[in-house]
Amino acid sequence: MPRTLVKCMIAIGRSGQLGLNGHLPWEGNSEPDYVADVARFFELTRGHVLLAGPRTIAAVPEFAYRDRTIQILRSNMNPEQVLLHYIGRTVFIGGGPAVWDVYAPYIEHWDINRLPYDGPADTWFKPEWLIAGGKHPRG
Ligand SMILES: NC(=O)c1ccc[n+]([C@@H]2O[C@H](COP(=O)([O-])OP(=O)(O)OC[C@H]3O[C@@H](n4cnc5c(N)ncnc54)[C@H](OP(=O)(O)O)[C@@H]3O)[C@@H](O)[C@H]2O)c1
Repeated sequence: MPRTLVKCMIAIGRSGQLGLNGHLPWEGNSEPDYVADVARFFELTRGHVLLAGPRTIAAVPEFAYRDRTIQILRSNMNPEQVLLHYIGRTVFIGGGPAVWDVYAPYIEHWDINRLPYDGPADTWFKPEWLIAGGKHPRG
């Protein structure tokens, strides 16, 4: 039966750091681990659907729109309706935290890259997202 396969690719620091001042905490770091993480994100999401909140989508570079479907999620959208719209596709839920709070139960596959970052953050990964499972939109 066709369904929407819902995934998440996320990068965190050593203690679960996710964001700082609206950006990635390690933004601009050109060391190989960080560069490889971004490259891998664009490689693995190619051809698929990327859904995320407005601030996260605002940070997506122009080139990324060429080879993936990108949609902004708003809090007035119904998650089931959003995901059913993409039946047959692989959908990546791109955050931020308020989005993962709601969409985590639909995520079947988590890809978490823990980067060697020990600095500050104002946005953190929540381990409870990983065990919030149970809802799978199916056509
Ligand atoms: N490390 C990573 O892998 C990673 C990935 C993504 C983001 N980040 C970081 O996270 C931070 C951005 O997160 P953010 O939360 O500020 O921005 P965001 O991407 O705009 O996400 C939050 C917004 O999404 C909207 N939203 C959509 N569907 C929702 C729902 N069902 N329930 C609640 N809200 C929903 C809400 O805006 P409305 O109410 O206006 O609709 C909410 O304010 C940045 O620092 C960014 O760099 C890190």
